[in-house]
Amino acid sequence: MPLRIAILTVSDRSARGEREDLSGPALVQAAQGYGWDVVHTAILPDDLSTLRDTLARWADSDAYDVILTTGGTGFAPRDVTPEATLAVVERQTPGLTEAMRAASLQITPHAMLSRAAAGIRGATLIVNLPGSPKAAVENLAVIAPVLPHAVSLLRGDPEAEKGHRA
Ligand code: MTE
Repeated sequence: MPLRIAILTVSDRSARGEREDLSGPALVQAAQGYGWDVVHTAILPDDLSTLRDTLARWADSDAYDVILTTGGTGFAPRDVTPEATLAVVERQTPGLTEAMRAASLQITPHAMLSRAAAGIRGATLIVNLPGSPKAAVENLAVIAPVLPHAVSLLRGDPEAEKGHRA
């Protein structure tokens, strides 16, 4: 089964319709390019309880293997996507965020300003990506090669162990 992806754009202005969401569509295109099924997208404001409740509900629905968020990972007062993510994940996956920041530092020192988090709730992986379309797609490209194997492991696929030889 192809990866089932949900994409959540986190932006006050896009949620109010004041700014076109370019990052969500850029991630949809990138995810489809990797051969994954984008089964849901949404835009929400930078509100901690809304984000927390939505991420928990989406993960608990078991409808998505991976939830990608874009935006709200920086230092601005209303950037709370990592806090919402950390509030709902049961196990953190720091390898993903370490790899994204390390690779992004080769592109821009601003990568240091990403507070992106990632982790697992049930069988769903939640990954924060930065807010700009360019940064979101660049960061996704870093983790894309390992996501199919990550999802196989989350699904408890007995064949998944074979991937460790790759
Ligand atoms: N990572 C990559 N690969 N490319 C980028 O252009 N921009 C950064 C960073 N990570 C960037 C990047 C910037 S400018 C910021 S402020 C942080 O991600 C957080 O972004 P956010 O607040 O839009 O989520």
